[in-house]
Order: sequence, then structure tokens, then C-alpha cells
Amino acid sequence: MASQNIIFREKDVPDIREYDVYVKNGGYEALKKALSVKPSEVIDVVKAANLRGRGGAGFPTGVKWSFIPQTEPVKYVVVNADESETGTFKDRQILENNPHQLIEGAMIAAWAIQATAVYVYLRGEFWDVAHELDKHIEEAVAGGFVGDNVLGSGWSCMVYTHLGAGAYICGEESALLESLEGKLGMPRVRPPFPANKGGGLYAEPTVINNVETLTNVPWIITNGADAYRAIGTEQSPGTKIFCLSGQVNKPGNYEAALGGITFRQLIFDEAYGGGIPGGKQIKAILPSGGSGPIIPATDEVLDTPLTYEDLQKLNSILGSASIIVMDETVDITWVAAKVTKFFRHESCGKCTPCREGTYWLDKVLDRIMSGQGKPTDVDLIDNIAKNMQGFTLCALGDFAANPIIHTIKNFPDDFKAHLTADSAVMPTEPARPARRGAAAAASGAD
Ligand SMILES: Cc1cc2nc3c(=O)[nH]c(=O)nc-3n(C[C@H](O)[C@H](O)[C@H](O)COP(=O)(O)O)c2cc1C
Ligand code: SF4
Repeated sequence: MASQNIIFREKDVPDIREYDVYVKNGGYEALKKALSVKPSEVIDVVKAANLRGRGGAGFPTGVKWSFIPQTEPVKYVVVNADESETGTFKDRQILENNPHQLIEGAMIAAWAIQATAVYVYLRGEFWDVAHELDKHIEEAVAGGFVGDNVLGSGWSCMVYTHLGAGAYICGEESALLESLEGKLGMPRVRPPFPANKGGGLYAEPTVINNVETLTNVPWIITNGADAYRAIGTEQSPGTKIFCLSGQVNKPGNYEAALGGITFRQLIFDEAYGGGIPGGKQIKAILPSGGSGPIIPATDEVLDTPLTYEDLQKLNSILGSASIIVMDETVDITWVAAKVTKFFRHESCGKCTPCREGTYWLDKVLDRIMSGQGKPTDVDLIDNIAKNMQGFTLCALGDFAANPIIHTIKNFPDDFKAHLTADSAVMPTEPARPARRGAAAAASGAD
């Protein structure tokens, strides 16, 4: 099944954002059901559903929740509504149109880990969204679904909103926690990881999940893990919001079953993107905003189903599924230069490979773009990027290296066009030392 609205329920139920409409249409019944069983049983259902985190890494949500030590008295749930990845604009739509489903999902997560509070961290520009969300939280408190003695269970948990101040890095979970604590938003050295004592919010065990991830949870609790797994693929169950932008006729957010559609369908079908303006040829796709490897739009790529596992086979990532389309007129070297400027600006500067690497990548790309590129410049930026990847404190360093490594590999002619014919020296693969540890990947951290 391609099109199904688990998240964008406003398409089936107008005004679902309103508390009364939400409740009349089964809203908060999943929370009641969750509270009627043990927290560990809720975790088991989410684990069995294999809901994967929608914030970018695709880490299994139930597994993440199970890392929280139940013995600790104070625990938190943090909702990541920072939404700052280039080309990602789905969480805002959820917050605006189906806020109670997010609040309900966050409360179910809070029950599952026995949290005492939920914090929704929204990017600074979402001040109007936060204002509305505060009203929706008050409605849920008045309904007995949030706050003291939730539904008479004896368990209390409040939901708070918090606005960031406009830094991309504050979407990275440990920088987000620093910012939430009122400190400068810079990633933390891990371990300890957020799930562990000492690593979470105010040093207490903390689950951090993306808005879209948590909005899936009420549906899973209501319908069960098997029903959820019946949508999508074995490794990528459920639906996903695809944020489609760039050179397409109908950019926008589209919800579809994972694996239910291909790039070609998403970009060209009338129900989705409706093709390339002016009937131009498609050249390249950024499947995960500025941070993921760019891919040439070959027939093989266009016929690839949109799942976590299929994107991996293309040596790219689905990430938060912010799909940016580029037509035949786009100079991919320009794209690399543009994205690099973004990462140079957003690098927090805490670790040397990212701080210096993004600075030098930007400088050399400026030189190439101005027509002053040296014969060895392509080799130089490839080398800088490869010496960043895996050697930085957080994944932003990897994100910044991606556009360089993959544009050089996949679009060598675009680079050559900026250099004189005899100066275009394309890089060879250097020997690779060991990278950042596997511990972070196993913990669910980026
Ligand atoms: C530089 C950087 C920026 C990120 N920005 C966001 C963001 O805006 N929103 C988000 O949900 N996750 C973002 N993430 C991923 C979070 O660190 C984290 O993995 C995610 O919130 C976990 O939620 P999930 O398991 O539900 O996906 C970012 C990661 C990095 C490294
Ligand atoms: S990789 Fe970049 S953004 Fe991340 S901690 Fe290091 S300097 Fe900061």
C-alpha cells in the first residue's frame, strides 16, 4: 500500500488538531490502553513494531526506550522538534495539524520509561507553533491526560515546551540537552549516553525522540505491532513523511508506506511531485538534505524503493527523508560549495577536524568556484573531507564531509569543468585509519 495516513490524519479527519475532534476520533484511547498494562509491555509492543527513529539515524525506538534503567527515580522524555536539516519541513506540519497525537505519543513514551516530565524542544523560529502547542498541552491537562495523577493512575508527568535559539547543531541530541539546560549548544563527549545516569537531561536517564517518531506511537498501541509491520517492509515498517523540494512541480510533504513508492513515483507521479518544471531532465538527488551523500538520478536510482535498507544499497541514507531534486542545469560543484558554507557556519567549533575542516573546505571551494582553482584542489578537498569523516565529536563533521566526497566521486565532470583541462587531477583512495567507535552506533546516538 503506497499512501496511508498514520501521521497526517488531518487529510482524513478535518480539524483533527482540535482537542474535541481528536478525542471524538479515538484520541487518547491509546494512552488509556498503555496505562492499563505494565510499562515494559508498552516497550515490548514498540520493539515488536520495529518503529525506527525518524530524526535521521533510523535507530529502533523500542530498543532505545529499553536502555533506560528503571531503577533510577528521575527520568525524562525529550521531543526533538528542532527540525533544522536542510529540506526537512515535516515536523512543523505535524505540530500544526496533529499536535495531540504527538502529545499522546510522548506521554506513552513517558509511561513506558516512567518519566516525570516531557520537554518539547522546538527550534527558535517555531515560536508561533510553540504558543499553539502550549494551548494544546493545557487542553490535555484539563482532560486528565497530562499532569498530576494521569487518568487516575497515580503517575504524574507534565509536558513543557522550550524554544531554541536558531542553531542547527541543537538538533543533535546532546547539544540539544545542553541548550535545554541553558548552556551553549555544543555536543557532549559520550559516554555517558543520554539513556544512562550522568548522560541525559540534568544528568538523568533521558529518551530523545523525533516528533514524527513519537506521533507513530498511539497508532501502534491501538492497532498492535503486527498491524504496523504489515505496512512498509521488514526492515522499514510503517509510513514515512517524504519532504520533497528542489526542482519539482509540486514540492511538499507526502506520507507513504516505506517501500511503497520509488524515487521515480515520488518525483514524477501526479499524486506526488508531478515531475520536473519545464520538462527538464533530472540530474541528481539529495535524499537526506544537505547531510547525506548526493546520488546521480540514474534509472537504477529512480526505480529504488524508498526504505532505509534500499538507500543504504545506493551508498546513501534515507535520514529524515528530505529529498531535494536537481535538474540538468544544476552545477553539482556549486551544490557542494553551498552546502559546505552551511556546515562551516553551523559547525559549533568544539572539535578541530570539523572546525578547521569546514573552514578549509569552504575556502578551497570558493577558490574553485571563482575559477582560481589549482590543479591539486579537488584532491585537496577530498583529502580534507576524508580526514574529517569519523574523526569528529558528533555527526555534523561526517555530514560536512559527505557532499565533498560523494560529489567528487559521482560528478567528476562538474569539478573538472571548473579547472583547466590539464589541471583536473581527480583523487585516488588514500589508506584509511580507524574511525569513531562503534559504541555510539550501538547506543542509538548519531
Ligand atoms: C547535526 C545534527 C543535527 C540533527 N538535527 C536533528 C533535528 O533537527 N531533528 C531531529 O529529530 N533529529 C536531529 N538529529 C538527530 C538527533 O541527534 C537524534 O538522533 C534524534 O532526535 C533521535 O530521535 P529518533 O530516534 O526518534 O530519530 C540531528 C543530528 C545531528 C548530528
Ligand atoms: S563535529 Fe562540528 S558540530 Fe560536532 S562537536 Fe565537532 S565542531 Fe561541533
